[in-house]
Amino acid sequence: MTRTVMGAAALRDMGGERMGTAEAAVRRTGVDTWWRDAVVYQLYIRSFADGNGDGIGDIAGIRARLGHLRDLGVDAVWINPWYPSPMADGGYDVADYRAVEPVFGTEEEAAALVEEAHALGLRVILDIVPNHSSDRHVWFQEALAAGPGSPERARYHFRPGRGPGGDEPPNDWRSVFGGTAWTRVTDGGEPGEWYLHLFDAAQPDLNWADPRVREEFESILRFWFDRGVDGFRIDVAHGLVKSDGLPDLGGDDENMLAPVERTDHPHWDRDGVHEIYRGWRRVADSYPGGRVFVAEAWVDSPERLARYLRPDELHTAFNFDFLRTPWDAPALRKSIDHSLATVAEVGAPPTWVLSNHDVVRHVSRLGRPATNGAGHSLSHLAPATTLDLELGRRRARAAALLMLALPGGAYVYQGDELGLWEVEDLPEEVLQDPTWERSGHTDRGRDGCRVPLPWSGSAPPFGFSPAGAQAAPWLPQPAGFASVTVEAQVSDPGSMLSLYRAALALRHAHPALGEGEFTWMPSGPDVLTFSRGAGFVCVVNLSDVPAPLPAAASVLLASDPDLTDGELAPDAAAWLSV
Ligand code: GLC
Ligand code: CA
Repeated sequence: MTRTVMGAAALRDMGGERMGTAEAAVRRTGVDTWWRDAVVYQLYIRSFADGNGDGIGDIAGIRARLGHLRDLGVDAVWINPWYPSPMADGGYDVADYRAVEPVFGTEEEAAALVEEAHALGLRVILDIVPNHSSDRHVWFQEALAAGPGSPERARYHFRPGRGPGGDEPPNDWRSVFGGTAWTRVTDGGEPGEWYLHLFDAAQPDLNWADPRVREEFESILRFWFDRGVDGFRIDVAHGLVKSDGLPDLGGDDENMLAPVERTDHPHWDRDGVHEIYRGWRRVADSYPGGRVFVAEAWVDSPERLARYLRPDELHTAFNFDFLRTPWDAPALRKSIDHSLATVAEVGAPPTWVLSNHDVVRHVSRLGRPATNGAGHSLSHLAPATTLDLELGRRRARAAALLMLALPGGAYVYQGDELGLWEVEDLPEEVLQDPTWERSGHTDRGRDGCRVPLPWSGSAPPFGFSPAGAQAAPWLPQPAGFASVTVEAQVSDPGSMLSLYRAALALRHAHPALGEGEFTWMPSGPDVLTFSRGAGFVCVVNLSDVPAPLPAAASVLLASDPDLTDGELAPDAAAWLSV
């Protein structure tokens, strides 16, 4: 067996020379399908880079760090909401959908960012939040002022309460963040109607049965498409349509996941959402250059998810089934097969994701051997089992090679490329996620995966804010970040950053990666081995003993460079040329 481990630089050179498969497809067909195998970097703006020293990430910070994304080798960025917001839920409470939050910058800076990203070959995807607005949105303010029965209130879900004096909420729905999904307002100085909020009380749900809501959002899409934006990630895409009459749930334990056994859920994954997305697709298709949508839809089966991806609906969706699958070969194999089969039926590409700003970082999920990353990943309750961070990192390296070798698109959450872990010991007084308060201090919420990135240096703010910044980062960074800064990793060939760079460069350069052929190859029960055609094979060893590599293979890239006697160590992955 011959083996060579290519240097990242050599791989990058290859990437530079080869025209992307997507580009070639545009030439052939005239249709821009760049998104079918794109790697998208999720940029959580508050925590990426702070340009002006107030301790909060901003557009100036992104512009100064675009080189990191270019060197990493991603194809696009998805930026979490940057609109004016009181930040009751990290910007997912939008007060004005056609402007930029002053803390993050100006509309001129946003335009410059889009232009600079495009010049580097990076597409820009924004986050749109159609299920709810902020309670400071002019529509909600008008609704409060106009009173019961008014057309202003009809844009939201206002109802009289139940029980004597209307003192009880109109139904039994629960907020995803804890507690009832209803808050009562005062009408004419007296306790009045209640309004629905599936999330925080500062996030009233919009009424999508009202045509003005539909028109407004199509107009917002056009506003940003006109400014060159390449697409939108759709927040809570499965939540927009509510059942007529808002019937009781009947005691279902509420979370974001539409339960599979229930196709009549009163507010998750209702059939009516699809008509909305057909309208959105028509808007996107009226623009040149491949404008796209990616759905955040927490549905409990790949079949239900595929319904969002029919040819006249959305382009792609996050594959949360993969994210929630434990580190277990048969389970992963099943999830991969199921995902591939269901999207193929509707002609959409699969996507893969390991982490985002709502879930426990996968280094920490995979570092808990007792659960192997299983369990409801949205839960940030105090972790009950011991964490083996080294194991988590090791598996995260292997998981990255697995994900990036699968067909279709992939999402990298900022900090994945640095191997960041969930910061589980943030002091209670700094927690900002509304989940912490609304759960009565039982669930610490999602702040632990949102801690500002470490760029350089040996002490906070680790280059996140400029030298001499007047404020500390909005969440404190742990001292341990010193070992995982970009600066510390960039020249270390064994680092997570070097692994991601090499993998992404190879993914661009190798004709087998991206969309296309996928075939399982024979292997032990706890090993995943698959071919992608053109002599490319990926092996992932999830067993606790070394796994033999196929004969006559040369190693293109390995998560564990120590390949003794042609064997791959446990919790490692390799990309091979055969
Ligand atoms: C989505 C977002 C999450 C937010 C929620 C309400 O799940 O990813 O961060 O809290 O929607 O908008
Ligand atoms: Ca700032």
